[in-house]
Amino acid sequence: MSGLFITFEGPEGAGKSTNIKVFAQALAQAGHAPLTTREPGGTPVAERIREVLLSVHDEPMHADTELLLMFAARAQHLNGLIRPALAEGRIVISDRFTDATYAYQGGGRGIDPRRIAALETWVQGELRPDLVLLFDVPVDVGIARARARSELDRFEQEHRSFFEQVRNTYLERAAADPARYRIIDASGNLEQVHREMQPVIEEVLERVGG
Ligand SMILES: Nc1ncnc2c1ncn2[C@@H]1O[C@H](COP(=O)(O)OP(=O)(O)O)[C@@H](O)[C@H]1O
Ligand SMILES: [Mg+2]
Repeated sequence: MSGLFITFEGPEGAGKSTNIKVFAQALAQAGHAPLTTREPGGTPVAERIREVLLSVHDEPMHADTELLLMFAARAQHLNGLIRPALAEGRIVISDRFTDATYAYQGGGRGIDPRRIAALETWVQGELRPDLVLLFDVPVDVGIARARARSELDRFEQEHRSFFEQVRNTYLERAAADPARYRIIDASGNLEQVHREMQPVIEEVLERVGG
């Protein structure tokens, strides 16, 4: 038995965390028991690593440190939570996963994607998300929503050009593998975004039967 692994991706303020609840509720209403989780984090140890990654330190964090911590948290999350749930046949929905590493540490920080790919294979083996919902918004819209939401974390304090790179990397990855990616135009109001998600919800229900 093997479940379905779905990830939500996109920059801060795109609406991932808001819409993952709506998406999971729709699956629950159809009789499924999806597991929703997030990265970095998802287990107690991985959440501790998240705190280190997101908080603002006096000492600048080296890009390699950031990359390795992301995969350290991911190893814990995958082995402790995601793989066991998939083995039970569950639908697992993660708010961010390795596409975010390509977008932020690769696109944003400029780390060679081949290094990321090497860690991806080490930590994940063959495992890749079955489906990625990419919440796409113009950079200014995402930044404005994130600013209005709360105090900015270490990533949210980055410059505009960083987020342009993040967005471009996400869009390039989606374009290269259209079978696995669904681009959600997340620039409209919540009702419009829900309408964008609806065909994907139907597609998932078809795939899992019911
Ligand atoms: N389509 C939307 N229109 C207006 N505001 C939105 C929309 N989607 C999300 N928001 C708001 O923007 C902020 C960021 O949304 P959130 O779901 O936390 O984004 P993410 O998890 O992608 O960073 C929240 O305050 C949320 O209520
Ligand atoms: Mg969020």
